[in-house]
Amino acid sequence: MKLLNDKVALVTGGGMGIGRAICQAYADAGAKVAVADFNASAGKETVELIETAGGTAFFIEADVSKEDAVEAMVQQTVKQLGGLHMACNSAAVSRGSGPIHEFTREVFDSTLELCLTNTWLCLKHQVAAMIESNAGEESLGSIVNISSNASLKGQAYNTAYATAKAGVNILTKSAASEYGAMGIRINAVSPGVIRTPGIENYLKEQPHQAEKFDRAAVMKRMGKPEEIADAVIFLSSDKAAFITGQILSVDGGMSVK
Ligand SMILES: NC(=O)c1ccc[n+]([C@@H]2O[C@H](COP(=O)([O-])OP(=O)(O)OC[C@H]3O[C@@H](n4cnc5c(N)ncnc54)[C@H](O)[C@@H]3O)[C@@H](O)[C@H]2O)c1
Repeated sequence: MKLLNDKVALVTGGGMGIGRAICQAYADAGAKVAVADFNASAGKETVELIETAGGTAFFIEADVSKEDAVEAMVQQTVKQLGGLHMACNSAAVSRGSGPIHEFTREVFDSTLELCLTNTWLCLKHQVAAMIESNAGEESLGSIVNISSNASLKGQAYNTAYATAKAGVNILTKSAASEYGAMGIRINAVSPGVIRTPGIENYLKEQPHQAEKFDRAAVMKRMGKPEEIADAVIFLSSDKAAFITGQILSVDGGMSVK
């Protein structure tokens, strides 16, 4: 019997990087996985990888910054997979970085929409589905939001993203207080620098940055997407049955430096 057998998980941003690793880890742990992304080819590739490894997954094309798409994504998950026990909100896009006095309001607003408002929309509809489809069970569900270490101490020239992710942290804590008594646990994982394909591509153009990224962690290396996924699986499972409202840094010690 695997850790998450008979459970249904929904992952946003499951098409690549950390989100893909989270989808694969849920499936490896025995869960049926709804892979949501606005990049259809990437999301379908994640499903193929899971099915080839013997798991169960299906793809939902959704832009999670749009409420009608989020509502439909959650409904489709419940209809297709028979419920919703776990969700991980990993989708995020930063629209830009630079000094505040040169930033446009449009970039600031859209980064908040694509990193924070989307997470609130997902929480809203995921919680509603958990209340409706798991009524009567001791645990109604578990939600993990993906934050960022940029949210912890602030980050120069990255104000929109850092502010949005700080919002994700306080949203996580507030929602945990709101739904804990009902049996829905809500936590966040805060990655340090993780060696995703996106970071790999950036390092091809800026190879000198690799050493800086390695040095950011006290463990002197970047993290792997699978190391974020392991923390998500733990927080999603009954092994974390008494943990809610926490922001868990998975960062090789970057946050204690
Ligand atoms: N990579 C890192 O070092 C790092 C560090 C800290 C935090 N994070 C956070 O981890 C999460 C995943 O990051 P990543 O590096 O794997 O990113 P990524 O860009 O590699 O993947 C993000 C995925 O989300 C999808 N997506 C983005 N916005 C979406 C939307 N509105 N609707 C649907 N799909 C959407 C993209 O298509 C993509 O498949 C993000 O929340 C990010 O902020 C990453």
